[in-house]
Amino acid sequence: MKIITVSYRLPVSIKRQKENVKITQSAGGLATAILSYSEKSKKNLTWVGVADFDEELWENNKDNYDRNFDIEPVYLEKRLNRNFYNVFSNSVLWSLFHYFPSYIEYNHEGFEAYKTANEIVAEKVNSIYKPGDIVWIHDYHFMGLAKIIREKHPEAKIGYFLHIPFPNFEIFRVLPNKVRRYLLEGVLGSNLVGFHTWDNAIHFTECVEKMLGHSHKNFIFSQETHRTRVGSFPISIDFDKFNDAYDKPEVIKLREEIKHLYEDKKIIFSVDRLDYTKGITNRLNAFETFLKNYPEWKEKVVFLLVIVPSREEITKYGERKKMIELNIARINGTLGNYKWSPVVYQYQSVDFDKLIALYTSADAALISPVRDGMNLVAKEYIAARKDLRGALILSVMAGAAKELQESLTINPFDDEQIALKLNYALTMSEEEQERRIERMQRYLKKHDVFRWATDFLNETEEIHSRDTKPV
Ligand code: UDP
Ligand code: G6P
Repeated sequence: MKIITVSYRLPVSIKRQKENVKITQSAGGLATAILSYSEKSKKNLTWVGVADFDEELWENNKDNYDRNFDIEPVYLEKRLNRNFYNVFSNSVLWSLFHYFPSYIEYNHEGFEAYKTANEIVAEKVNSIYKPGDIVWIHDYHFMGLAKIIREKHPEAKIGYFLHIPFPNFEIFRVLPNKVRRYLLEGVLGSNLVGFHTWDNAIHFTECVEKMLGHSHKNFIFSQETHRTRVGSFPISIDFDKFNDAYDKPEVIKLREEIKHLYEDKKIIFSVDRLDYTKGITNRLNAFETFLKNYPEWKEKVVFLLVIVPSREEITKYGERKKMIELNIARINGTLGNYKWSPVVYQYQSVDFDKLIALYTSADAALISPVRDGMNLVAKEYIAARKDLRGALILSVMAGAAKELQESLTINPFDDEQIALKLNYALTMSEEEQERRIERMQRYLKKHDVFRWATDFLNETEEIHSRDTKPV
C-alpha cells in the first residue's frame, strides 16, 4: 500500500544556472508540512506534481536529491500551465477564496485549462494507482481530481485537503454556475474533505447544500458510490525539528552574528511569501505608526522583513511588491537617518538554519495576514523558541490564531492597535514571555504535523471502510 500525494508544487524546484543546476526546496506551508511528514513517517509515499523543469533536466538530476519518497513529475504544455496556474488557480480561486473578489480575472480559457490539467494529472495518478493505495489530494489547484479518479476506480480511498480558506456562500456564488458545480462535485469525489478550521468546513457544507441540493448528516454526504465526510484538521509543523534546531552549532553562530549586528536594538521579525493576503503593506503602515506614536524607540528597534519571491508573473503580485518597496523606502527615508534604517528588507528566500537564527533572535514576530488558511510561520516561531523568549503578534484572520491562544492578537487593518501591541511585546517581562510561549509550545508539541497527517489519513480509511456497508 502506498500514499499517492498530489499537489501542484513538487517539493523541489530544479533550475539551470549557466553551467550549473540548482535544486531548491519549494516555498510555502504545503511543501514544509508534507516534507516533514514524509521525512519521519516511514510510509511508502509517491509525490505527484507539476514540474517547473523539463524532462531532460529531471532525468539527469533526479538522483542528486536526497529523499525518501518517489516523485512523479507531470509535464504540462506552457500555455496550458499558464492558464491553469496563473489564471484560474491563482487569479480566480486564490483571490476569491481569500475574500479578494475584486482581484478575480476570470476567463473561459482559464477554466478550460483547469479542467484539462486536472484530467492530465488524474491520468498520471491512475497510471500508478494500485488497489489499497490512498490518494491524498492537496489544495485548490485540484478540486476536480477526486471525481475523475473515482470514475476510473470507484473503490479508491481518496482524501482531499484544502490548504487555504473556503469562503462563505455569498463569496463562492460569485463564480459562474458551471464552475461552482465542477468544483463542488469534484471535491465530493473524495471520501474525506479536510479544512484547517470548522468555519471553512461549515462554509463548504453550506455551499454544497445550497448549490447542489445535497443534505448532510453529521457532516457526512451520502452519495451513490460512496460517503463523503467533511471535517476540520488544523495543519501543523514538526515541533521537535524547530525546537531542537535552537542548539545547532550553525544556528548558534548565525544567531550570535545577528545579535551582535543589532546589539543595542530590539528586533521585530517577519517572513512571508510575497502575497497580497499576507498584509505586508498594512504591517509596514502599522510599524510606521508605532515609530511615530512611540518616539522613544527611535534607533532602538529594527524590523527585519524577509519576503520570499512568489508568483512573480501575476500582475497583482508585481504590483504588491512595488507597493511594499515604496513603503519601505518612505519609512527609511523619512524616519531613519544615516546611522539607522528602521526596516531591513530582503527579497530572497532563507535556508532553514538562517530561518531559525532569525526566529530565535527576534524579540517579536509580527504576523499580520488579512486572510490566511493557517500560517505555519506563526507556529514555527513559537516552536523555535527553546529559550522561551520572544512574543508573537498574530492577526485574528490567520487560522493559527484559533490555536495559539497566548499570542497577542491584532486586527491587521488597525495600525494603532498593532503599534500598541508592538510596544507591549517589546516591553513584556521575561516571566510573561515564558508563560505565554510555554503554553503555546505545550499545545504545538501535542498537535504536530504527524498528528495532523495521521488523523487525516486514518479518517480517510475509516470513512472509506464504511462503504462496504450499504449507503
Ligand atoms: N519558508 C520557505 N522559504 C523561506 C522561508 C520560509 O519556504 O525562505 C517556509 C516557512 O518556513 C513556512 C512556509 O514557508 O513553513 C510558509 O507557510 P505559511 O503557512 O506561513 O504560508 P504559505 O506560504 O503557505 O501561504
Ligand atoms: C500556499 C499554497 C500552496 C502553494 C504555496 C506556494 O501554501 O497553499 O499550494 O504551493 O502557497 O505557492 P506556489 O504558487 O509557489 O506553489
